[in-house]
Amino acid sequence: MRTQVAIVGAGPAGLLLGQLLHKSGIDNVILERQTADYVLGRIRAGIIEQGTMALLDTACVGARLHQEGLAHDGTQICVGGTRHRIDFRALTGKNVVVYGQTEITRDLMDARRATQRTTIYEATDVSVHDWSSERPCVRFRQHGKEHEIFCDFVAGCDGYHGVCRQSVPPEAIREFERVYPFGWLGLLSDTPPVSEELIYIHHARGFSLCSMRSTTRSRYYLQCSLAEHAEEWPDARFWSELRLRLDVAANDRLVTGPSLEKSIAPLRSFVAEPMRFGRLFLAGDAAHIVPPTGAKGLNLAASDVNYLWLALVEYYQDKSVSGLDDYSARALARVWKAERFSWWMTNLLHVFPDSSGFDRKVQLAELDYLLNSQAAAAALAENYVGLPF
Ligand code: APR
Ligand code: PHB
Repeated sequence: MRTQVAIVGAGPAGLLLGQLLHKSGIDNVILERQTADYVLGRIRAGIIEQGTMALLDTACVGARLHQEGLAHDGTQICVGGTRHRIDFRALTGKNVVVYGQTEITRDLMDARRATQRTTIYEATDVSVHDWSSERPCVRFRQHGKEHEIFCDFVAGCDGYHGVCRQSVPPEAIREFERVYPFGWLGLLSDTPPVSEELIYIHHARGFSLCSMRSTTRSRYYLQCSLAEHAEEWPDARFWSELRLRLDVAANDRLVTGPSLEKSIAPLRSFVAEPMRFGRLFLAGDAAHIVPPTGAKGLNLAASDVNYLWLALVEYYQDKSVSGLDDYSARALARVWKAERFSWWMTNLLHVFPDSSGFDRKVQLAELDYLLNSQAAAAALAENYVGLPF
């Protein structure tokens, strides 16, 4: 098999890159080790920055997002049982849209099917070869048969646990990581949200987040120990712990119901540098991970894909390699600013088990400064709505 760009991974990054390349007349094949249903089954945040929305529109997959997405002009920070609003619209002139990542993936999958481009699900034992030559290739097995795809470029969109980054020799890559000493216990329920906007809660018992997928489906998170297991949290225990962290008004509005999904996710900050190795390019979670506090993961995947798509179009249309040569530095400049913001918000809002009395006082001073300074609120707002692509 031969194609211009072989894309490993059919998550948001791989599907979005495939769609943009298709729109630009660049042939591409997507290889995914799971089934489409498995990919769709992932429950992930959907806070969409305007830059990401614009890119989805360019890819002609934004229609449902505009119809069903919930525009949020601000968010709430709750400290000491008192809520403070960060007004994105007033502080930045922008907003974000709440629209589950699952729905974005569904829209991208529907668009992919309509392109008639090749998408290979349940591709196992994927391996990447000869990316330093002009003829890289990707090998995989499917239904017990070995296959080979020769291509011009390989896009590693295969996430944190993917094969592409891990195929790079250790001496050619630098990794930077911070693992946080807690996790997020998430619950999804078909119950109305407690608030029209998200509520980020700083509480002595631990961080909590009240989010949503629609006006009838809510998503809640409780900071928990990494020693915990979701099975130890029956719904009743989750709801009673959440109530202990909610303010009075949210408690009054809370509607509980059976969990549709409940799981614990660890939190980490991670960046691999560079993001380009010859004709192998990393994008999205394959190159970096952010703690979910700042809701940056999907939006960073989108900005990486934007830079890589533009660089590939420039190569095929103008026979220029400057975009490809600039890709890693350009993507990493935005990645590190989002990593900083996500790290900052995580340190601001969580209880750190081993923090000193001084650390806790500084955290409270940081919150006090944020909630009483327009400049501090504007800094949070401009990072939350998304720095320019
Ligand atoms: N071969 C083929 N496919 C693979 C392999 C492999 N060896 N390893 C992983 N994959 C697939 C995974 O099954 C997954 O569908 O690559 C895809 C990677 O998708 P994501 O992990 O969703 O990463 P990305 O597309 O970069 O999207 C980033 O997802 O994890 C969230 O918070 C993150 O919102 C962000 C978004
Ligand atoms: C979510 O809805 O899952 C969500 C929203 C905002 C975040 C993290 C997760 O910061």
